[in-house]
Amino acid sequence: LEVLSVASEMFPMVKTGGLGDVVASLPGALREHNVRVRTVLPGYPAVMTALCNVRETVPALDILGYQARIVEGNVGDKSLFVIDIPALFDRAGNPYLTSDGVDWPDNGIRYACFSRAAALIAQGLAPGYVPDVVQTHDWQAGLTAAYLRFDRKPAPPVVHTIHNIAFQGLFPASDLARFGLPPEAMTIDGVEYYGDIGFLKAALQLCDWITTVSPTYAREIQSDPWGMGLDGLLRARSRRITGILNGVDTHEWDPMTDDNVVFPYQIGDLLSRRPNKRAFQAQFGLTPTPSAFLLGMVSRLTTQKGVDLVADVVSEFADEDLQFVVVGAGDRGIERRLRQLQRAYPGRFACHIGYSEHLGHRMQAAADGLLIPSRFEPCGLTQLYALRYGCVPIAARVGGLADTIIDANQAAVLHGTGTGFLFSPSDAPTLADAIRRAHDVYRNRPIWHQLQKNGARYDVSWGQKAATYAAIFRNLLAGDAASGE
Ligand code: ADP
Ligand code: GLC
Repeated sequence: LEVLSVASEMFPMVKTGGLGDVVASLPGALREHNVRVRTVLPGYPAVMTALCNVRETVPALDILGYQARIVEGNVGDKSLFVIDIPALFDRAGNPYLTSDGVDWPDNGIRYACFSRAAALIAQGLAPGYVPDVVQTHDWQAGLTAAYLRFDRKPAPPVVHTIHNIAFQGLFPASDLARFGLPPEAMTIDGVEYYGDIGFLKAALQLCDWITTVSPTYAREIQSDPWGMGLDGLLRARSRRITGILNGVDTHEWDPMTDDNVVFPYQIGDLLSRRPNKRAFQAQFGLTPTPSAFLLGMVSRLTTQKGVDLVADVVSEFADEDLQFVVVGAGDRGIERRLRQLQRAYPGRFACHIGYSEHLGHRMQAAADGLLIPSRFEPCGLTQLYALRYGCVPIAARVGGLADTIIDANQAAVLHGTGTGFLFSPSDAPTLADAIRRAHDVYRNRPIWHQLQKNGARYDVSWGQKAATYAAIFRNLLAGDAASGE
């Protein structure tokens, strides 16, 4: 079975968050289920540079008035189609934002062109290639389903995967013709969304199956306010929605072979984490106390992630043997606040403002606990990396966090099943309570070690999750879903 996966990010070339990790690691996992994936990416500079064995599939074509090329090649074992439109994608840095941190003003046409080109490939534009199923990811690929529907040509079924419903891709109705969509598309059954054009809305309305990245998030987004305006549409299509947890690339994330880890260690070998903690404390200028309870957070700095809640509680723990390290980038106000805390609590609070894959890995091998106080979390990957590296997650009970962490309440401790700490609601006092609860357990090392060992045993690989994707693809191909709705 051939799947054309349409996405705006893929690790290691371009990654702003978990989408890049998932788009990179799912194809390998699907291969074991006889599903071959080719991924369509925009021709960002990092992609053009990384691409090997480049072939010009379509040397020149016009995409919505832009000069474009479609090239094929591979990066490692990943097969790619790249939509090369220099006027739209030859820009370094974050794919969506200018260096001032605001959206590129032409993001609408950028990702319309990207989806338009992907739809052409789905219809057979690349000689010798016809996919059986198209999988689109997030709003950036959302219009693919709309082009396939309104072109009225034979087309493969589309599965749309929601990684985050907060990003919807809304653009003015006046762009309809510029996006190459016919007037008939501008209805509630098409791309129209409260008077605008909604890229994500279009995908959810027009695709054949919807997946999202955890079972809990699949339920949450069918109600207000989690659905962020799309809950009604999702309820209407609820029989065609599947929540599938993300898996992780277990080679990329293995503390024994991870180049970023100063002192490599076997999964589950807890004592060998100690020198990593010492090195991390030194790197961040923290007091080198071995017994200090070291809490890390690695995240985009947005309201979703609740890093402001961490900032709110730091002062409460100023006199305790607690240390915080935050690695993150995003909201400029939050970045400023973190820098202030670093100045106010030297030796106890440290931050790295910026994107550092290296520090993200290193933190997992060094910190005692990982803070994930998200207000919502479709799946979350950092808790999965944490479980694997022996770093105990302290997380909000939402979305995929609720599905992947077993709270170490008394019953779980008695049964030896806890893997972390869950709290709800996502507010500062409740986060502070959870940190206190975790700190108490940390002082009781045998129980803490049990939590780490339980976490290390939890299967974070793709395994069965990839099988579920494969089954959805095959069912759609067989037309079983036709009776759905
Ligand atoms: P999201 O996709 O919402 O950002 P996930 O937990 O699914 O959240 O994935 C985030 C990914 O991005 C993880 O691999 C995490 O380690 C990484 N990450 C986020 N921010 C940073 C950063 N500032 N530096 C390094 N890695 C980061
Ligand atoms: C999104 C979500 C995150 C998820 C990731 C990969 O960015 O915020 O929870 O893990 O996509 O699916």
